[in-house]
Amino acid sequence: MNPASAFVNWADGALQVPGLQRSEKKLGQLTGIFRDHQAWQKLDPETIVYRVWWWEPVVPGTEGGLFWGLTEIQPGRVGNEYFMTRGHWHVIRNRAEFYVTVTGSGKLLLTDRTGRTWAEDMTPGSLHYVAGEVAHRIVNTGDMPIRVTACWPSDAGHDYEVNEGRGFGARILEEQGSPILVPAQD
Ligand code: F6R
Ligand code: MN
Repeated sequence: MNPASAFVNWADGALQVPGLQRSEKKLGQLTGIFRDHQAWQKLDPETIVYRVWWWEPVVPGTEGGLFWGLTEIQPGRVGNEYFMTRGHWHVIRNRAEFYVTVTGSGKLLLTDRTGRTWAEDMTPGSLHYVAGEVAHRIVNTGDMPIRVTACWPSDAGHDYEVNEGRGFGARILEEQGSPILVPAQD
């Protein structure tokens, strides 16, 4: 039997894999994502909002393969809007994805092609099936980092047009200390 070459630490989702990929997004890179542009401009653009680590056991674009990743979003807000990922569609629109919350708490914001938008509660152990044709974004509504494990098809691709064109149909805002889903006016 051959030893495994890849490991997940289930306590924090950390990956130990060959050729670990990584990226980070700072506030200054998240142009036009948050509703309150003035509040965004006042914050330090070097602030890290989220990091992603992932494993590509096959070349991106390979049909029939899978990728595995971990996203960590810091706690914080721009105005009254919580830190979140950019959010995307998959380029091949029918490609689905699994998310599992490892630590922290948040909301998974989902928008389908008709613009219908809803949110699922993310809490340690929550397992989310993101169906194809559904744009997805993770929002950290807690006061500690949220860490989310994901598994998605290697040919899915990422289409961030959801931010520039018809966006998510709602935003998650803090009101009196709690997250609320507010229909987007922008
Ligand atoms: C992969 C996926 C996640 C996100 C990650 C960062 O399909 O959904 O790995 O890519 O949570 O979010 P985005 O890509 O929206 O910046
Ligand atoms: Mn995805």
